[in-house]
Amino acid sequence: MRVIPALALGAFVLPLSALAADPHSYAQPDQVRVTHLDLDLAVDFPHKALEGRATLTLDWKNPKAPALVLDTRDLKIARVEGLDAAGRATALKFALAPRDRELGSKLTIQAPAHPARVRIAYATVPAASGLQWLTPAQTADKKLPFMFSQSESIHARSWVPLQDSPAIRFTYTAHVTAPKDVRVVMSALNDARHPLDGDFRFDQPHPIPSYLLAIAAGDLAVRETGPRSAVYAEPSVAGKAAHEFEDTEKLIEATEKLYGPYAWGRYDILVLPPSFPYGGMENPNMTFATPTVLVGDKSLVSLVSHELAHSWSGNLVTAASWRDIWLNEGFTTYVQGRITEAVYGKALADEEALLSARALQKSIGEMPANSQKLAPDPRGVGADDSLSDVAYDKGSWFLRTLEQRFGRATFDTWLKAYFHRHAFTSITTEQMLADMKANLFDAHPGAMDWNEAKAWVYRSGIPKDAPLPTSLRFDAIDKERAAFLAGTLDAGQLDARSWNTQEWMYFLDRLPDAPALSTMKQLDAAWHLTGTPNAEIGMRWYSHAIAAGDTAVWDAAREHMTRIGRMYLTLPVYKAFAATPEGLAYAKAAYANAKDGYHPMTQGAIEAILTKASKK
Ligand code: BES
Ligand code: ZN
Repeated sequence: MRVIPALALGAFVLPLSALAADPHSYAQPDQVRVTHLDLDLAVDFPHKALEGRATLTLDWKNPKAPALVLDTRDLKIARVEGLDAAGRATALKFALAPRDRELGSKLTIQAPAHPARVRIAYATVPAASGLQWLTPAQTADKKLPFMFSQSESIHARSWVPLQDSPAIRFTYTAHVTAPKDVRVVMSALNDARHPLDGDFRFDQPHPIPSYLLAIAAGDLAVRETGPRSAVYAEPSVAGKAAHEFEDTEKLIEATEKLYGPYAWGRYDILVLPPSFPYGGMENPNMTFATPTVLVGDKSLVSLVSHELAHSWSGNLVTAASWRDIWLNEGFTTYVQGRITEAVYGKALADEEALLSARALQKSIGEMPANSQKLAPDPRGVGADDSLSDVAYDKGSWFLRTLEQRFGRATFDTWLKAYFHRHAFTSITTEQMLADMKANLFDAHPGAMDWNEAKAWVYRSGIPKDAPLPTSLRFDAIDKERAAFLAGTLDAGQLDARSWNTQEWMYFLDRLPDAPALSTMKQLDAAWHLTGTPNAEIGMRWYSHAIAAGDTAVWDAAREHMTRIGRMYLTLPVYKAFAATPEGLAYAKAAYANAKDGYHPMTQGAIEAILTKASKK
């Protein structure tokens, strides 16, 4: 179950003429392309603003192009100037269009003389959709304020005026000032020994799409985890994080062995406050991660495998539009499984593949037919709508099917070469398919019919013969769950002492949607799930217990959803509360208290749940 942020909820209908270009960007890359971005920004905590200048280097494509069109959302534009090759500045006229709810405001800059660069002086607003600002009291160590960005899908435009489309790649440099003692990091090479003097410089020498632009600033300590990796976190969290992520170098080496050298130099991880709205974000050189994976036993390190995998699938070879996003997330979920298998063994990789496949089987039937396709018809699909279970779970299932049919050696050779052939480019589903047809199907005839591949990509549902891994431990859990629900096995007799996180997830995922109250009471008495420090278990436990009418868990559930802003872990609990009038009232009160600590995206998503439930 993945989560659609509120800003992308509106279904909107596109004019047919827009279908060729990226429908989620106003940019006109056939006219002019940004090739480099230079940022000069000040982090202004008192005003919750980034303020400064963005200088865009331009490659004019159409000699007659009259203007540079950029994406913005809620930016305050102070002035715009063109810079000629010698660096001489001329003021340029610009117009900011009315704000579209989903796309923001189109910024049209008149530039008939085709300046080499355009410089925009601007500031962000406190409620910028891609930023969260935390007061010292809202951080773990309570000493300094904190801020971080989350640009995917189309939120970079809320903190930088740019061509906000994954089809357009640019290098970037940045100069960022901040209060003394604050450390600033970006999705670029970061220097762990940089003095905390309030003056930071960054260089991302590889061309990246805008959704990989990232920045964070706060009270950050650094712990090395390997020769080219470190964790950044608030001082009180850094030790725990360094322990949880101590296998990072092993994970990088396992991936390199499969798919070739890591192209980006360092691989660091930033652990954010618990309000981070996602599990992880694959910002180049600096994965942003939720602290909810710091459970002490490394059982949720797949998050690192996943974000690291994006260094190949996503950051090296990028989906050209949001409709193609399964090229990022499906390929990455597949690669994540291969890394897990190499470092932690096949049993765990198979468990995670099964959790993914079972989740998809449960959810896909309720989706509109178009959303069940890996490559949906893009009309009326919001930027984040394609980021569902389908992109992750059906996408990775398709690749596991190919691996099985062609054999691992052949499939690995193709995938490695695919990453190499398209490195540092953005491609569509159709370009990937052309590569796959020529270099996998036609090169190895007889293994699989091409029509089957097309059905995986362009048809709804899951193909009938989709292969499932087996897990003896999951099979045993299915039997135990059935016996427990039938009343022939006591809760205390479940073999749960030996269960890892994934096995608990599997046990809880497949309980009835609204179990009997007595069932929940017995489970809690035996296994003390209420108050669990593992939020993957907590989310599943509270959702089921609330649905069963177990009011004894309400306060602990409220604590869980107040503390955690990761949408995937907190929205299901709000949804469970919203199913009854008493629960809804309780959730509304909880939200009123928790709201200030949530990211703008999480706020929007929770408000959508509460509003929808109130109308019933
Ligand atoms: N790129 C995604 C995060 C994302 C998705 C941001 C959609 C914005 C819109 C990231 O790589 C991801 O998939 N994160 C997962 C991690 C999990 C699959 C291990 C998450 O956040 O839960
Ligand atoms: Zn991902």
